[in-house]
Amino acid sequence: MMKLYVLVLLLSAVSGKALVRITLNSTEIIPDGVRLTNDDGRRYIGTIELGTPGQAFTVIFDSGSSDLWVPGPKWVSTKPRQKFDSSKSSSFYYNGSDVNLYYGSGSLTGILHAETVKIGDITITNQFFVEAVRSPIGDRLREIRFDGILGLGTDAVSRTPTVWTTMMTEGKVEKNMYSIWLRPSSIEADDGGEIVFGGLVAEQFIGEHTYLDLDTTGSAPPIFPFGPISVDGLDICTANCYAAADSGPLTLPFVSI
Ligand SMILES: *[C@@H]1O[C@H](CO)[C@@H](O)[C@H](O)[C@H]1NC(C)=O
Ligand SMILES: *[C@@H]1O[C@H](CO)[C@@H](O)[C@H](O)[C@H]1NC(C)=O
Repeated sequence: MMKLYVLVLLLSAVSGKALVRITLNSTEIIPDGVRLTNDDGRRYIGTIELGTPGQAFTVIFDSGSSDLWVPGPKWVSTKPRQKFDSSKSSSFYYNGSDVNLYYGSGSLTGILHAETVKIGDITITNQFFVEAVRSPIGDRLREIRFDGILGLGTDAVSRTPTVWTTMMTEGKVEKNMYSIWLRPSSIEADDGGEIVFGGLVAEQFIGEHTYLDLDTTGSAPPIFPFGPISVDGLDICTANCYAAADSGPLTLPFVSI
């Protein structure tokens, strides 16, 4: 019995493929003082590490965009943020291309680099990321309560392979599937749910999943046919309705302020 047990452990260690579960925090996206009318203001953040040794950053896992960015030394924000220090990393690769990133709520200018990125037990190497340098004065991205954004969208809208693509090409996930479990914001902040790389976790859902093709040809986020939609007899959308598969929309809360 003992021998068998050891063998099984060894096999799974060698293959290196596991379901990787990252705890998410449900947090208000912007600092105190800006009241939002409802819970649209809450978003889900988790922690990743960049560099060797790892430097920790809180990020939104955002299926609606495809780039990874974290603040660089020159980044200006209203709250102290973690800033990436390339001089302290032995795995830093300087690329130097200028990059502009645009979100529904803001934009930033940065520099492209590559690094080792650790997400839970998964380590990927030579992953492109953007060292954020600046955003326009007054931009919402200066006020956010997390450090950066990890885009989980497709390569179609990114100039470089995404983190998720690298996880798959480096064979780091059990299945080419990730799932996000978002818990209601009434639950404790550090129990906002989980993002699971490599598959599904049975206790996080009831019933069967329905699988739909995503349209990833347009701009981010990916969309899928949805509807028709009516509320209390009022038609919201009757034909050609689409919904966005977007886990981290920054646009809505900012528009509603
Ligand atoms: C930087 O990355 C881009 C995108 O992959 C690539 O085209 C370019 O050659 C790279 N430049 C350097 C100096 O590594
Ligand atoms: C979530 O928030 C709690 C309390 O602020 C903190 O201790 C914990 O490290 C956070 N977890 C993540 C994954 O950011």
